[in-house]
Amino acid sequence: MSNLTTIATIGSHEGQTITLRGWLYNLRASGKLLFPIFRDGSGTIQGIVPKAAVPEEVFETLKSLTLESSVIVTGKVRADSRAPSGYEIDVENVEVIQRVADETPFPIQLKEAGVDFLMEHRHLWIRTPRQSAILRVRATIMRAAAEYFDTNGFTRTDPPILTPAACEGTSELFEMDYFDEKAYLTQSGQLYIESTALALGKVYSFGPTFRAEKSKTRRHLTEFWMIEPEVAFCELPELMELAENFISHIVQTVLKHHQADLKVIGRDVTKLETIQAPFPKISYDEAHQMLEDAFEKGLIENRHTYGDDFGSPDETYISNQYDRPVMVHRYPAAVKAFYMQPDAEDPTKALCVDVLAPEGYGEIIGGSQRVDSYNLLRQRILDHNLPLEAFEWYLDLRRYGSVPHSGFGMGIERAVAWICGLDHVRETIPFARTLNRIYP
Ligand code: 4AD
Ligand code: MG
Repeated sequence: MSNLTTIATIGSHEGQTITLRGWLYNLRASGKLLFPIFRDGSGTIQGIVPKAAVPEEVFETLKSLTLESSVIVTGKVRADSRAPSGYEIDVENVEVIQRVADETPFPIQLKEAGVDFLMEHRHLWIRTPRQSAILRVRATIMRAAAEYFDTNGFTRTDPPILTPAACEGTSELFEMDYFDEKAYLTQSGQLYIESTALALGKVYSFGPTFRAEKSKTRRHLTEFWMIEPEVAFCELPELMELAENFISHIVQTVLKHHQADLKVIGRDVTKLETIQAPFPKISYDEAHQMLEDAFEKGLIENRHTYGDDFGSPDETYISNQYDRPVMVHRYPAAVKAFYMQPDAEDPTKALCVDVLAPEGYGEIIGGSQRVDSYNLLRQRILDHNLPLEAFEWYLDLRRYGSVPHSGFGMGIERAVAWICGLDHVRETIPFARTLNRIYP
């Protein structure tokens, strides 16, 4: 095959005859001229086919070619400043691998289809340029996230997915039968990586996590990917520094490599350029006061009750006050998980932090310093009505050389939604799992 290449690298072949392998994405005809658009997974490019310039059969084949038919295209690359990619291809030959039948046209047409229809055809929807661009950005977010820890002295230690106990509360567990014993799909690898942190110092895990979320929101999936660092001898202030540097690295990496994709997605990149550490840091009490002031001035409808967690409108209001993520620390211990270390200065507060993304995207990171006292942790497990037997191994970490340690988890889909500026997490993952969808 002559000079096989991809659309992403076509610029280095200007003036040459090249071969692309891909699919017919769109076709426009204007008299004796055809304008097919091809896609190959790396991008899209417009072809020009004047009837007089190609063999009759090539023109006729293309003219009646159905969308998403698979093709091998040969042609000459020509720079064109009007083309989105900067190049066009003067088609010389087309070989059809599989022609989509006229009776079963590609269901995702260029016209707008409803969200339910698109989700039902997610396996085909991902072929469209915007969805492909999102998936490429997602891949870079995942790579940059892992790379940040890999290059900063962390060891990746992935926890099991099948677990005997809850990490983040029992109401959202997926239960399964494990050879006549009860087991659960993991909600977070945290408890396990606390143990690998005490073995290896700085560790992280990266994998799918599961929550039987009964709520239908634009932020919740039942299966999502979480990256979680855990660090021995680390306390809350150092954890917050880690989180802000980590997020800055991810956003700056996406900006460096995905300008074209962000343009296809329609993202305002000026909103991302400001994302550099340090981030603003406020306590729960300060955030509550901010909401009180806003309520008194009539800027928000619902009054926040002191002691409660923040609702999604609260988080939106708080995050809208800043041009970068805001870190809210020291929530009331009562609304947080059992394993969080109390603040020595006010034990009703937990040494925890939530990172709220700008533009109303809400919480992207949740983390904390962990209880390091054996007696306190044991009491917390009992207070939360958790089965002590299932946590004996976890208590061992406080029996044998316990140290202060901290970690956080970032949901990849929340990060993708924010960085790409998407309305809903269903577009952030190849196949979203939600309350009422498990197909395809
Ligand atoms: O705040 P969460 O529940 O924290 C934990 O699971 C800790 N054990 C993590 C740790 O300290 N190692 O969840 C962490 C993050 C959230 O901030 C959010 O980004 C994401 O996971 N997340 C979800 N993403 C999509 N769908 C859901 N249902 C999510 N639940 C949490
Ligand atoms: Mg949380």
